[in-house]
Amino acid sequence: MNRSTLKIDYIETVKEKLDPADSELADMAFQAAQNAYSPYSGFRVGAAVRLDNGMILQGNNQENASFPAGICAERAVVFYAHANFPQAKIRAIAVTASPCGVCRQVLLESEKRAGASVRLILANGDKFLLFKSVKDLLPFGFDSL
Ligand code: THU
Repeated sequence: MNRSTLKIDYIETVKEKLDPADSELADMAFQAAQNAYSPYSGFRVGAAVRLDNGMILQGNNQENASFPAGICAERAVVFYAHANFPQAKIRAIAVTASPCGVCRQVLLESEKRAGASVRLILANGDKFLLFKSVKDLLPFGFDSL
């Protein structure tokens, strides 16, 4: 029997101290949140991904009267990215929230597709959490491939 302890390496910081690239992606996520369609929950969430081809794509949560049919901001933008730029690798994602479990699992797969870590910038007001890999947010994620 082995007992292990996991440590999560992350940075907590403020907008003024972000790298320009992270700051730009966070701004795009905040901007995307403004276009969320969330009449049922009232929560506007925005996300922006940076691809290895230099593009930045934006997404937001889209709700529906049939509640389960709605989609989170992260999945909206990640699936859009993979659908339209299947060869591109997602390098980083900024989100104006902390991703739900399902979105973490989806992001884990993006990391696998990229064959490299996906950087996460989680923004909440003036507080920013920076993670180097989705694995830091979802240790022991499902991985059957
Ligand atoms: N939501 C996201 O867009 N991302 C998350 O990671 C968590 C939740 C959305 C889904 C729903 O439209 C609203 O926030 C409330 O749950």
